[in-house]
Amino acid sequence: MDLLAPKPGERILDLGCGDGVLTKKLADLGCEVVAVDSSVPQIEAARKLGLNASVISGEELLYNEEFDAVFSNAVLHWIKRADVMLAGVYRSLKPGGRFVAECGGHGCVHKIRTALVQALDRRGFDGEARVPWYFPTPGDYATRLERAGFRVDSIALIPRPTPLPADIIGWLETFALNFFQGFSDEARSDYLQEVRTVLEPQLRDADGRWVADYVRLRFAATKTCEQSQSWR
Ligand code: BEZ
Repeated sequence: MDLLAPKPGERILDLGCGDGVLTKKLADLGCEVVAVDSSVPQIEAARKLGLNASVISGEELLYNEEFDAVFSNAVLHWIKRADVMLAGVYRSLKPGGRFVAECGGHGCVHKIRTALVQALDRRGFDGEARVPWYFPTPGDYATRLERAGFRVDSIALIPRPTPLPADIIGWLETFALNFFQGFSDEARSDYLQEVRTVLEPQLRDADGRWVADYVRLRFAATKTCEQSQSWR
């Protein structure tokens, strides 16, 4: 939010608004916020907060030069076709508009990811093929942003070990569904317990608290007035 520096009256697109709690903060600051998310239940929750929220995927943005800024938190690592999304963000911004975001970056949840993949491999699956996340390096993302036409003002990886509110199983059942899709209840429970056992010595501290090995990628970029090379 500090990096975005929202001003009252600005028209801002929240890309991947989730339940809208952060979006509401922008609205309360006097911004005219449009919120989008690909999840129906999340948009229902955002609408209950009185927000202008719609079910739209990040790869399907059809706005045209109408936003002062596009903001996104903890979402871009779920978007596989990053270049398609970036072209849509670029189109949505007014000239001089800003794109400010934070998402999982290179190395994010490396220990969790490794345990999930290896436990699948041990069961005869291709674990890597089930990884749903894209955790780019700053270099990789800066190149994509510039190719889409942006000037990159800042971009950095920020290691952020994050204490979890409950057991790691809860985190896995929320964010790692892709790994055990199609499993029976018994196979799923067996898989999750194995992953938990592998991770316990790595991610559980002396007080018994689970701490996820998050790394964030945070950037601010500006839509320059020149057209992008790749989408011309
Ligand atoms: C996150 O919400 O920040 C996140 C989700 C899945 C994997 C890593 C991070």
